[in-house]
Amino acid sequence: MRLIDENTVTDAVLEQMAPTSDARLKEVMGALVRHLHAFAREVDLKPEEWLAGIAVLTAVGQKCTPHRQEFILLSDTLGLSTVVNALHDKRIAETGTKSSILGPYYRQNSPQHKLGESIAGKTHGQPIAIYGRVANKMGEGIPNASIEIWQTDEEGNYDLQKTAAEEMDLRGTFHTDSDGRFYLRSVRPRAYQIPMDGPVGKLLQRQGRHGYRPAHIHFLVGAPGYREVVTAAYMGTDEYLQSDTVFGVMPSLVTETNPSDASSPFPDLPSLRFDFTLAAEAKGAGSGRVGADASKIGA
Ligand code: BEZ
Ligand code: FE
Repeated sequence: MRLIDENTVTDAVLEQMAPTSDARLKEVMGALVRHLHAFAREVDLKPEEWLAGIAVLTAVGQKCTPHRQEFILLSDTLGLSTVVNALHDKRIAETGTKSSILGPYYRQNSPQHKLGESIAGKTHGQPIAIYGRVANKMGEGIPNASIEIWQTDEEGNYDLQKTAAEEMDLRGTFHTDSDGRFYLRSVRPRAYQIPMDGPVGKLLQRQGRHGYRPAHIHFLVGAPGYREVVTAAYMGTDEYLQSDTVFGVMPSLVTETNPSDASSPFPDLPSLRFDFTLAAEAKGAGSGRVGADASKIGA
């Protein structure tokens, strides 16, 4: 009989999992076991510490509801969502707009809007225009591309945080015109603190982290034959740009409103121009989403 100790147990587990018929599951679980065991050995993990870890994971699960996804928050604040996004971007067949965090506030089936309409139904922030073009790698506009957009109000709150769950505000779905162009109106978003009233927030506080995200606007853009992109535009003057709690800011995603943009469809409004490049769809690369509408996870 093999002597099981803190080192030999790793191979013992891998051997027991060896019959796994799904090759990818075998690879992922094997690596997880090797890295988890190595982590415990590296920090000389004490039983009471692992119990504390189990308590945190339990609290994370218990905090989840159809409108609150604490596990996404954990993945985001650990930087894991950004690792997965960056790996996904490396598998791209052509260069396209970089991915950014989807976050826990995405909702499917946001209201359909016509070009030029405002997504700010109930909010009274500083009006801005948002416009741009969805194009392929050759710069050709993609007609009828779908653009889902969602953001906070001027106080840094998403609709999910303040209204009855079924009411939607500051989010919507648009489709590009025949030249790939889109334009709409909204209000300037604000930096906000991610939810700090759960186990993830408690952990951030113990780590001395402020919990803020710089002001941004989320986009989910797709068209048949192209790889969907989940991304965000970050406001370039925001004080949290360098210290985003969830590591979503990429230099190419930083922009700012222009107070006098003559080429804006709304030249009287501060205008944010944000263009998207969609890469051709690569077979088997997945949708590109990290996270999902919280109410659909596990459903
Ligand atoms: C967001 O950008 O909506 C977000 C991302 C990660 C955690 C919390 C919020
Ligand atoms: Fe956000």
